[in-house]
Order: sequence, then C-alpha cells, then structure tokens
Amino acid sequence: MIPMVDLKRQYQTIKSEIDTAVGEVLEQAQFILGPNVSKLEEEIASYHGLPYAVGVANGTDALLLALRACGIKAGDEVITTPFTFIATAEVIALLKATPVFVDICPDTFNIDPGKIAAKITSRTKAIIPVHLFGHPADMAPIMEIAIKNNLKVIEDCAQAFGAKYHGQNVGTIGDAGCFSFFPSKNLAGYGDGGMVITKSEEIARQIKILRNHGSSVRYYHQEVGYNSRLDEIQAAIIRVKLKQIDKFNTARRQNAAAYRAAINKKEIILPSVAPGCEHVYHQFTIRTKNRDVLTAALQEKGIASAIYYPVPLHRQEVFMDLYNFSVKLPLSETCAREVLSLPMFPELNQKEIKLIADVINNAP
Ligand SMILES: Cc1ncc(COP(=O)(O)O)c(C=O)c1O
Repeated sequence: MIPMVDLKRQYQTIKSEIDTAVGEVLEQAQFILGPNVSKLEEEIASYHGLPYAVGVANGTDALLLALRACGIKAGDEVITTPFTFIATAEVIALLKATPVFVDICPDTFNIDPGKIAAKITSRTKAIIPVHLFGHPADMAPIMEIAIKNNLKVIEDCAQAFGAKYHGQNVGTIGDAGCFSFFPSKNLAGYGDGGMVITKSEEIARQIKILRNHGSSVRYYHQEVGYNSRLDEIQAAIIRVKLKQIDKFNTARRQNAAAYRAAINKKEIILPSVAPGCEHVYHQFTIRTKNRDVLTAALQEKGIASAIYYPVPLHRQEVFMDLYNFSVKLPLSETCAREVLSLPMFPELNQKEIKLIADVINNAP
C-alpha cells in the first residue's frame, strides 16, 4: 500500500528529537503560550526575514484573524480563487463579507491575475491569493492591482511553506501570510496549528489580541476575540521539523522530478512550474480526462490517489445557498473534473515512484 502521505515513516526519522521536545513541554507544564510558541514565532519570522509571526490555533483562524486585522468587515468584497480548500472562502463568509471568485490559470491551478481587475467594485477590500499545492500564485501583477486599488493582500500559504516567487518566500509579499500546520502539510504538527507572518506591527498586534479573547492585558478585553492560540506541544513539534523544512522540500522536488522522468503517458498533463517559481509540491497533481480509469488502476495495485478539489467553491452548496452565484468559471470547473493528486511526501522512495508511474503508463 502506498498512501498519499506517510506520517509514521517521517516520525521514525525524527522520533528521538520529537519525543524529547514533547517530554520537555510535559516536564515544564506550561501548556498555553509557553516558550516554544514564542521561539517558533521568532524562528518562523526569521526564516522569512520578517519582524512578526503570530501563532494561532489552525490555518483557518490564521486567515480569519488576518482578515479581521486588515479591517475586513460585513458588506466588503474579497477576491479569491474558487479552486482551493473551503477554508479560504469560509473565513470571508464568517465575517459577513462576500467572496468574489476569479477563474484560475490551469497550468498552475492558481488565480489568474489578468481576470482580477474586472471583478473590482467600490466594495472590494482585499485579495486572497492561494499558493495551491505548493506553487506560488503570480504575485507581481496581484500586488500591482492591489496597490493601484488600495486593497489588502492576504496570502494563503497553507500548502506552501518555503515556496519562492522570484526569490521571495511566499507569505512575505502581501500584507500577511497565513500558514497551516495541519499534520499533512509540508511543515506540520501532530494536531492543528497555524501562523500569520507580517511586516506590519499593527497587524501582528491585532492578531495577538484577537487570538486571546480580544485581550492584551489579562481579564481586560478590548475586542470580541477568539480562543485561537497555537498549542505549546504542537509548537515544540513544529520547531523540530522546521530545522529540516528545506531538506523536506528538496526531497519533495526530487520526487516530483522522478515522477516527471517516469510518467510518459501522452494524455497526462504534468504540473507545470512558472518561470521564477520554486514549487514545494505539497501535492503532485496531474490532469487526465481518464480519471476514473486511472484511479481504479492505481487502487488495484494498492496505490492511493486523491481529488483536490472535486467541486470549485462557487459551485459548493453552502455558497450557492448564501450568494446564489451564477458566475461561470470554466477553467476551475475543467480542472475540478480532471485533477488527480498522486502520493507525495519527502520519504516516498524511487521504487515506489517507479511503480506508480508504471501503473499510470500502462493504464487503459
Ligand atoms: C489552501 C488552504 N487554506 C486553508 C487551510 C486551512 O488550514 P487548517 O486546516 O489548518 O485550518 C487549508 C488546509 O487545511 C488549505 O489547504
């Protein structure tokens, strides 16, 4: 059996360090906003060359709190991609703002900057580009539009820790970068976790208040906030993995190269990498018109595969009910019909990649 992600395999390679780190938290017994959260915040800020990083409970909250810290409120419009995990747009709806979906570039699966300007109205306040599957969104034209129209840019980096756009780390280009440490992510804990990075002292200050029940001084509350703190045990685990993140991402890139070399079936579209972009392959996602046949062939040999994402967000029941969208976004709809993600994790080995490629090449 080859799974999409094998977390047990990775744990075996870092077991003693992880066990020590978790043990130390238990010994210190400081479980909420303890030293590991502060140190991880410093380390992640420093990794990105930014002054601020604030740990929160998960990637969804990272987006939610970043939107609130950027002043997004009821009645505003926020432009984003329909081809992403629901959380990206859910947070917009939670603030009673409206998600406005812009179609994608099918090569990178990311928002098409050329289609953003036509969707801007007097109510538009922000753009959330998503660096989907670990490939950076095309940030230069997005920033140009944002600056021209006075819009905030909140980068959804949940799948792209360490990815680079023309030498700049994702998350450092817009007003805020939001990460998820969900266990299957490139940089992950063994539970939920998230973080916002920013160059803005004010955004960082706001998020620190919001994550802690709207309070900066204990039992004095300035805002309606959340209980959204990064857990100390998760922070200790993530600190161990952060030391190896570049190595893990390099291994993912090597696995992607091995897939590219081995898959030779004509009708398969392999994932592209735009010029100047460094992909981190949170997913290795191919396109095929023969998805059902391919999935069945893989399954027969005990190989997992997954569809991220089968329904674009403008077609999701929840948003159809809320906003009654009639918009047509044909490229995201085509991708939703054709995408198939293959097993991808740093410890995946060459023999496994060869086997997966053979099954694909020989599928009917
Ligand atoms: C693109 C994207 N945005 C946001 C999230 C939300 O992160 P979390 O699951 O940590 O809340 C995820 C992952 O689950 C994601 O893939």
